[in-house]
This record gives sequence, structure tokens and C-alpha cells, in this order.
Amino acid sequence: MQDSLLTTSRILIVDDQPSNVMLLEGILQEEDFTSYRSITDSREVLPTFIDYLPDLILLDLQMPYLDGFAVMKQLQACIAPGDFLPILVLTADITHEAKRRALSEGALDFLTKPFDATEVLLRIKNLLQTRSLHLQLQKQNEVLDEKVRQRTADLEATQVEILERLALAAEYRDDDTGEHTKRVGETTARIAEALDWPQTEVELIRRAAPLHDVGKIAIPDSILLKPGKLTPEEFERMKTHTSLGAQMLSGGEFPLLQLAEQIALTHHERWDGTGYIGLREESIPMAGRIVTVADVFDALTSERPYKKAWPLSEAIEEIQRQSGHQFDPRVVEVFLKIVSK
Ligand SMILES: [Fe+2]
Repeated sequence: MQDSLLTTSRILIVDDQPSNVMLLEGILQEEDFTSYRSITDSREVLPTFIDYLPDLILLDLQMPYLDGFAVMKQLQACIAPGDFLPILVLTADITHEAKRRALSEGALDFLTKPFDATEVLLRIKNLLQTRSLHLQLQKQNEVLDEKVRQRTADLEATQVEILERLALAAEYRDDDTGEHTKRVGETTARIAEALDWPQTEVELIRRAAPLHDVGKIAIPDSILLKPGKLTPEEFERMKTHTSLGAQMLSGGEFPLLQLAEQIALTHHERWDGTGYIGLREESIPMAGRIVTVADVFDALTSERPYKKAWPLSEAIEEIQRQSGHQFDPRVVEVFLKIVSK
């Protein structure tokens, strides 16, 4: 450590004897220390500490009002657990018991009165150097923490991007703009928000919902793009897009993938239990119940190879009509509030 850095460190001297204070100040001056404060009334230690934030405290043990032990107790409440604030105890009491107690209550080292200037300086410099190293380490850790945060954010952004592209790939054959999946994501998020989901969950479902039909990748064009009505066999094949999608997304470690898997599997479930798997009412995960409303509404109001787009008012009426049959009445109630805004 450079001497200039050492000598600009802030040192707080606490001793009720002015002669001791003068002696210590003289030693510091001699070594070109430029920043120190002295207190002879120990009751002023706490406010001075808060205002001055010293790097080192030279603390007398035997003082009126508050002795050194009481001062250390006060200071402990102000020092953060990870902070390294050296306290150098000044004492004429060199008994084993006094030393043990001082060490256990926060002191790092001792100076025995009467002072020896060389010894005083050696202890002060050692403790300041240790503090400086500690601060450097703390700073490095903060930089590392920030880097880890940044990398994690990059990783999450990459995952989200890959998932968005996967959703786009699934929709590409019947909607090459991917607008349907995006709109379903947005409507889903608005419903979740209106249902008072925490913001982090809302963001999660906004990103997971567009993947609801990812299993369509495995459905042949002849079925997916068929302009007319599907035969019962074709319809059965089409229905497998839920379980296929869930399989594709299964085993994910991240909450986003796990939610997307759940949505892929359950977005064709019906409140009355007549959906693809046959789950009913509360047994259908909430995410699936929300996405199904958003998905059906968007499908009704969009043009498809086999149908024209419904007018908004008719689509809303249909959603309302299906409350308690196809859809969770609570989700429909919230949805109607959103679309009437
Ligand atoms: Fe679907």
C-alpha cells in the first residue's frame, strides 16, 4: 500500500486524557498523517463515528461515562457485518482478563501505556493496511457480483430470444408474422395483471404464453393448413399438439420453460371438463385457464384458412357465452373488463 494512501486514512482517537491524545497526535503528525480527529469525551464517539466514518479507532479502555467496552458495544450496532473496522485498544491494564474481554468485544489489537512511538506506528500501519486490503477485496467482489448479474441477464435475454423464435417457428406455416402468438402473450399478461399476479409472474407468462402451440411443429401441413373441416382422425392428430408441445418443453430447469410446458399441455382444457385431457375447473392450472381465453379470443377475431375474422363484439359475446362452460368465469370476468376499456 502506498504511504500516501495510508497517511490520508481517517483515524479517530478516543482517550479522556488530553496528554495521551496530544502524544498520539504528535506521533501521527510526525509520520505525515493528515486526517485524524480526537475526542476526550467518550459520549461523543457515536455521533463522531457516523459523521467521520473513520478507517481506524484508537480507543482508551478506562474512561468516565462510557468506558472502552461500552463504546465498542455502541459501535457494533453501526458496523455492517461484512465491514472491517479495526479498533486498537489503548490500555494500562495489561491483565489477561482485560485483553481477552477487549478482543471478544471487538478490539483487534492492543497498545500498552505508556506508548512506544515505534510500536504505535507499527500497529496503526498494519491495521490500516489490512483495512485497505479488505476494502479492495470488497470492491472486487462488487465488480464480480455485477459481472455475474450482467451475465445472468444476458443468459436470460438469450433464452427469451430463442423461445420467441421457437414460438415463431411453430406459427410460421399459418401465420408467418408471428402476430398471433405475440397478441396471445400480451392479452394473457393483461389478464394475469388484472388477476393481481405479481409483476414477475406476469412477465413470465407474457413470455411463456406465445409458446402454447409450439407442438404444431409436428402437425403435418395437410392438417394444419386444411381449408375445410378436419375429419375425426385429423382432429385427433391435431389435438396431439398440446402433449407434443409439452414434451418439447419438458425437463426445463427455468421457471419460464416450466410454465410454457404447463401452458402447452393445458391451453385446450375446458372449465366443464370436456377439453383435450379432461381436466376440469380448479384442477386446470391457472396459466392454462388464462391462455385459453386469450387464444380463443384471438383466433375468433383473426382470419384463418377456413374462416373469416369475427367482429369484435361477436367474439366478446362468444367468450361471455362460454363462461362457466369452456372458460373459468373469473378469467372471463376480468377479460371483459379489459376489452371494455
Ligand atoms: Fe393450441
